[in-house]
Amino acid sequence: MTEKETELRVSKIENGTVIDHVTAGEALRVLVILGIDGSEGQPVSVGMNVPSDRLGRKDVVKVEGMELSQEEVDVLSLLAPDATINIIRNYEVIEKSRVDRPESVVGVLTCPNTNCITNAGEPVETYFTVTDGGVQCRYCETIIREDITDHIEP
Ligand code: CTP
Ligand code: ZN
Repeated sequence: MTEKETELRVSKIENGTVIDHVTAGEALRVLVILGIDGSEGQPVSVGMNVPSDRLGRKDVVKVEGMELSQEEVDVLSLLAPDATINIIRNYEVIEKSRVDRPESVVGVLTCPNTNCITNAGEPVETYFTVTDGGVQCRYCETIIREDITDHIEP
């Protein structure tokens, strides 16, 4: 089956955002980044391991009525560096962009080190520098390599 045929499994949306070309297996983490657990009531479609010409297999996440913040796109890029963000209005793709790996992620992740200044109840925003191996806390140098989504601020 071609990509187009299989995509019929996940229907087109009227207004919202399609996150396409997500690394296969990362769709559920993408939902965590977006803070989506289904309780908000908007339609959400997830395709997993959909055949893709470019990636072999990919995940796709379609969310009605939602546009992403730059912070969300930045964290997304860490899990899904090849993702394409498509903004849909009235069934048309009105904007398409690739995610870019940011140099830093500010105020989105929590530091796993309980002794870090950012966990001391001080008004200090978290700040992680993005490196090839993961993200590193600017204050205590703790590195988060995997399971970045476990460290998203509630
Ligand atoms: N899409 C959607 N609802 C719409 C329009 C598009 O869900 N009303 C989805 C398509 O299924 C596809 C993505 O948004 O997953 C991008 O659409 P489009 O640009 O038309 O597809 P391609 O040209 O295949 O995209 P690309 O070149 O980025 O691979
Ligand atoms: Zn820290």
